[in-house]
Amino acid sequence: MQKIPTIPSSEITPEQIYLSRRKFMLGIGSLALTSAVLAACGGAAPASPGNEAATPAGTPEPTPDLRQELTSFDSITTYNNYYEFSTDKAGVAPLAANFRTRPWTVEVGGLVAKPTTFGIEDLLRQFTQEERIYRLRCVEAWSMVIPWQGFSLRKLLEAVEPTAAAKYVRFETLLDPEQMPGQKVGWYVWPYVEGLRLDEAMHDLTILATGLYGKSLLPQNGAPLRVVVPWKYGFKSIKSIVKIDLVAEQPTSLWMAAAPNEYGFYANVNPSVNHPRWSQASERRIGELSRRKTLPFNGYAEQVASLYAGMDLRRFY
Ligand code: MTE
Repeated sequence: MQKIPTIPSSEITPEQIYLSRRKFMLGIGSLALTSAVLAACGGAAPASPGNEAATPAGTPEPTPDLRQELTSFDSITTYNNYYEFSTDKAGVAPLAANFRTRPWTVEVGGLVAKPTTFGIEDLLRQFTQEERIYRLRCVEAWSMVIPWQGFSLRKLLEAVEPTAAAKYVRFETLLDPEQMPGQKVGWYVWPYVEGLRLDEAMHDLTILATGLYGKSLLPQNGAPLRVVVPWKYGFKSIKSIVKIDLVAEQPTSLWMAAAPNEYGFYANVNPSVNHPRWSQASERRIGELSRRKTLPFNGYAEQVASLYAGMDLRRFY
């Protein structure tokens, strides 16, 4: 178990230092990498604390593909979508700088045997924090690769014991227009709401993120706790969560309510289903000049395609 300290932005570690420090952290076993992550990265497994010592001196370490593609810390923390603060990507970080992330509680309830309100410190203590390097593909056709820390959403859901009637999970962001000026704008029905089918929420790739690049999350990235579901468009990865409910009916998300002809519930990354206003076949990876082809399920088809067996993914977009 690892408690990730809050560190002011003035002390942010450049990526190179993060990368070398991470090797050290792996060595002392403070981060656990699951086999699912390794598969998700599509590369060879990095040395675990056990087999690291067995690597003969001078043998180059196997390098997982995604680690080589990491988006810079600077881009991840200054190019943001967070409409509660601003619709201008560069405007989010300055407006969110003083957002209060302590004290913070997350109420987990609905169709569960043990409804529980967790303090953020309890979540950090109770659930082992792991590193997950994931692609993030925004519905707007840009993408990043982000080294998150967090824990499996499944573990949290198991702790509250969903009943047999629970079929979906509904997430809610904090509602606080005094801190989040965007919530004073009447275009959207606040708070931001998102949802997952229970099996999607229970999938090993789905995490609650608490940090990135080895630091606590900054407000612009959804501090202190956000969902990351890497095979879906980024808007499903809801930020600054205060409420998680297990429910029987498919929840209506903020985007489904705002633009029902544009955004469906599933929102799986799918290069062959275009947005009504632009193509989803390719994407601009932040920091790169040429475009990349978008991968089905954002590159995680092997892990998640079976969740949708028999479904027409052109209809359930
Ligand atoms: N969560 C909330 N509460 N409000 C938002 O506006 N934007 C979403 C998602 N989560 C959003 C949100 C969108 S569209 C994307 S692409 C990602 O957050 C962006 O996450 P990032 O800014 O950490 O890259």
